[in-house]
Amino acid sequence: MLAAALFLLAQVFPLHAQSIEEKAATCGACHGEAGIPQEKTTPIIWGQQEGYLYLQLRDFKRGMRKNQKMSPIAEALEREDMLALAAFFAKKSWPSLEQPSASKDVATRALTAISSVGCTGCHLDQFQGDASVPRLAGQSREYLAKTIADFRTRERANNPGMSDLMNATSQDDLATITEYLAGR
Ligand code: HEC
Ligand code: HEC
Repeated sequence: MLAAALFLLAQVFPLHAQSIEEKAATCGACHGEAGIPQEKTTPIIWGQQEGYLYLQLRDFKRGMRKNQKMSPIAEALEREDMLALAAFFAKKSWPSLEQPSASKDVATRALTAISSVGCTGCHLDQFQGDASVPRLAGQSREYLAKTIADFRTRERANNPGMSDLMNATSQDDLATITEYLAGR
């Protein structure tokens, strides 16, 4: 609907090309005007790794990752838009959700699980991510829990390797890791 309306608008006003800022403004409706998402199961995208942001948009568009809210948005985007939006949001600074730090006990258990699986081998020592590997530190707790569960059931099917890894890790360990990462 929105895409059709924009298409018509472009026909009527051929000189008016929508700027990247205007396109990005539509994302704010869910991901937050200042980077803090409206709902807890919506991820922070401000300051996320550029390569990762692009790949997720591409995967939503291709249907390899599905979500009722996000899929229709990505389907309306062209590759150039996705690249530009990824670059735009990656340059923003990561907002703080002010989630509490994990207790000492939870943190100890999380760190033991993290080192036995080797999460930091890919997500790096501060869980800041790099290129196509996402930042996890300070991401919304509810979103992390949801997406980890989606990897396990393969509802999130765009990275079978992550699904295997999540299924090889116990639910208890994943719960402590989620709490630890959210509070970082
Ligand atoms: C109607 C609400 C809504 C709008 C508008 C929206 N998103 Fe999303 N977005 C979501 C939700 C919800 C998710 C989480 C999907 C899931 O759980 O798999 C998401 C996920 C994402 C992800 C994956 C992040 C990650 O950590 O894996 C990216 C990237 C993204 N959105 C970018 C955008 C961009 C860019 C726009 C604007 C063009 C946009 N979104 C507009 C709701 C929205
Ligand atoms: C072999 C490298 C590797 C290892 C080890 C790894 N990850 Fe990942 N992880 C990735 C990649 C790559 C992605 C992006 C997947 C995609 O393209 O959707 C990812 C995605 C994620 C996401 C989704 C983030 C988001 O914004 O949606 C979470 C959560 C996650 N990993 C947690 C973990 C945890 C917890 C561990 C350890 C138990 C771990 N990962 C170990 C490479 C790895």
